[in-house]
Amino acid sequence: MSDPVIVTDTPFAVTVEEGKTYYWCSCGKSQSQPFCDGSHAGSDFTPIEYTATESKELYFCGCKATKAAPFCDGSHKD
Ligand code: FES
Repeated sequence: MSDPVIVTDTPFAVTVEEGKTYYWCSCGKSQSQPFCDGSHAGSDFTPIEYTATESKELYFCGCKATKAAPFCDGSHKD
């Protein structure tokens, strides 16, 4: 599997809505970061689905190196 594109070395702060489903981009090629826009087509990557359990601000990974996808786990500091 190839490496994902590093989009940014900081997470994306997103206010999610309870009950809404989001698809986090794992490949780094999406133009709609941090979410999938279909640009992974033809690669080994697929988006990670997340359904919000409550409305609040969350930090989605921007470096694509997180071990806790789709959220930031501090891996961008390495
Ligand atoms: S565009 Fe990156 S996973 Fe879909």
